[in-house]
Amino acid sequence: MLSYRHSFHAGNHADVLKHTVQSLILGSLKAKDKAFVYVDTHAGAGAYDLASKEMEKTGEYLDGIQRLWQQDCPAALDAYIAVVKKLNPSGELRHYPGSPLLAAELCRSQDRLQLSELHPADFPRLESLFRGDRRIQIHKVDGYANLKALLPPIERRGVILIDPPYELHHEYSDVVNGVMDGLKRWGTGTFAIWYPVVQRTDVSFLERKFSAAGLPSTLQIELNVLPENNRFGMTGSGMIVVNPPWKLASTMDDLLPWLATALGQYADANYRLNWLVSEG
Ligand SMILES: C[S@@+](CC[C@H](N)C(=O)[O-])C[C@H]1O[C@@H](n2cnc3c(N)ncnc32)[C@H](O)[C@@H]1O
Repeated sequence: MLSYRHSFHAGNHADVLKHTVQSLILGSLKAKDKAFVYVDTHAGAGAYDLASKEMEKTGEYLDGIQRLWQQDCPAALDAYIAVVKKLNPSGELRHYPGSPLLAAELCRSQDRLQLSELHPADFPRLESLFRGDRRIQIHKVDGYANLKALLPPIERRGVILIDPPYELHHEYSDVVNGVMDGLKRWGTGTFAIWYPVVQRTDVSFLERKFSAAGLPSTLQIELNVLPENNRFGMTGSGMIVVNPPWKLASTMDDLLPWLATALGQYADANYRLNWLVSEG
């Protein structure tokens, strides 16, 4: 039963962190002309209307992308913000790209995009958004099963974004199993896994699993915008990046203090940047 709809949450602080990291990884891949693949295991609807009925109920983007809109952002955010600006040419913030549209805008003609989405309402929206774009294949299949089919990619370069809803508790072990299986098929691929900070024990579980001996270098990036309460609601979010591009850690080291100030909802908003498995 799929009940999660990203349209209630699009553009919130967690999307800003996730899409920032996604755009930086894609930027690194574009340093070489050689084609790469972008895989999105949990793609969502692809793009969002911030004036929708769903968003009217939560207004989550107001403490997310709205806070970055029309202020001077650090250069590391240029590629991401340029896509949001392109979608909103009038200057009024109304449209927000999901990870698939952000990727489609940032990928080049030689790159390929592989998107999976299961929701019966979001899958057709994704399909119609990209109809005619020959770089993009859209699959109505389980994102982890699709990884088995897609890896290793013919390009031998690329990134896999794994962004599950985490509505059910087993999704924490699903993501670990999915990545471990993916690494067996493609040990040098970049895997970018998003997680929410709701219960600290769930984050610790992911940290333990991704710190395991023998895994490739793995970076953890976390932004906490509200005081942690371990009871209800998301107070922050993070990304675990296996095989990160070499400049990602130093770029995020510069960017995270700025993001914590821009997106923090209390005085002690904070961030973490850790190697779960160190480089080299
Ligand atoms: C957090 S949203 C994705 C948001 C999107 N990545 C973005 O940043 O714009 C998670 C999506 O995963 C979908 N989903 C849930 N389980 C799935 C599965 N096993 N395989 C593929 N998609 C799934 C949900 O329907 C939902 O649209």
